[in-house]
Amino acid sequence: MERTPVMTSINANWEEFYSKEISEKLPFFAKEDRLYDCLFAQQFDREILTGLFKTADALRTLTQHKEGMDFISNLLSDKRAMLYFVQPSTRTFLSFLNACHIMGIKTSEIRDTSTSSEVKGESAEDTVRTFSSYVDMIIMRHPTPGFVEKTAWLMNRTNRPVPIINGGSGKDQHPTQALLDTYTLYRSFNGEMDNKTIVMVGDLKRGRTVRSLTYLMKNYKNIKLAFVSPGQFRMEPDILEFLKRHNMPYVETEDFSSVMKEADAIYMTRIQDEHDKAGESGKVDYSPFYFRREHLKLIKKTCVIMHPLPRRHEIEVSVDEDPRAVFWRQERNGMWARAALISHIFGVDSKIKH
Ligand code: CP
Repeated sequence: MERTPVMTSINANWEEFYSKEISEKLPFFAKEDRLYDCLFAQQFDREILTGLFKTADALRTLTQHKEGMDFISNLLSDKRAMLYFVQPSTRTFLSFLNACHIMGIKTSEIRDTSTSSEVKGESAEDTVRTFSSYVDMIIMRHPTPGFVEKTAWLMNRTNRPVPIINGGSGKDQHPTQALLDTYTLYRSFNGEMDNKTIVMVGDLKRGRTVRSLTYLMKNYKNIKLAFVSPGQFRMEPDILEFLKRHNMPYVETEDFSSVMKEADAIYMTRIQDEHDKAGESGKVDYSPFYFRREHLKLIKKTCVIMHPLPRRHEIEVSVDEDPRAVFWRQERNGMWARAALISHIFGVDSKIKH
């Protein structure tokens, strides 16, 4: 049966649409008060986030027993999903794959364009449209900035739209990473998300996770942010503008130890040298932006140490033993947060929560 296109009223061409403010575009990626496509961190408000976290918690509890697992894996057993990940990924790919399996969704995957008909000259646009002939959802990671959004825009203009989930695009956004990061904060702080100081460390210029996480922090009251980075890799002006617009206080510094003591969460990131154009990463001394074992005695007893992973040397391995190091839990939280998101998009979340 043919489905009604979501965006029947959009006649703008792609360039015109792409240039619009994200706030203007959000209604076109939503359906009946729910996210339809998940493309930007700005799509999540506090109410949606709390609902997703409750669903994720309920999924964890229910799936501890076979009866609950069988119930969950029947909820979307009529659905199929495509995982189109043509940029390297371990945890985003695997957590989405396993989230689909938990929900009973059957999956297909392409992880390298050399194995698709793109090598025969098929455009990326035609390739993703082909996926929608076979599946009910496309989860994708693509190197081209804006391509995930373009896919959603294209699909929503066809008579067979399918939800598109952004698993990380270019260096601009990684909304589901921000979702799982915020879920990790929510669990670490027992749901008390207001009045926190979050310190983000590393290559903030090219790290899409810190950009998306900053957007999500707007949903909470009295959040203070500290950005610690080498001068070359400071947070981009558009994010700083966003913070000013929403009266969210922030500091920028190269002195990591000066902001450690106040932190409720320290979010470490690696240098993003895959985006290098002129080998600029090699010229930077990144060692002042490492979290070392000796730092454990400087931070609060309740401070959590996070990292989207993969890591290189940003966190000394012996730090992993400290109970405040939550990055392995954070990684696992990703699977539950993503399963919750999928259940929200397909409208079965209320069956899980109740
Ligand atoms: N955090 C994250 O996106 O990890 P992967 O690149 O392994 O998916």
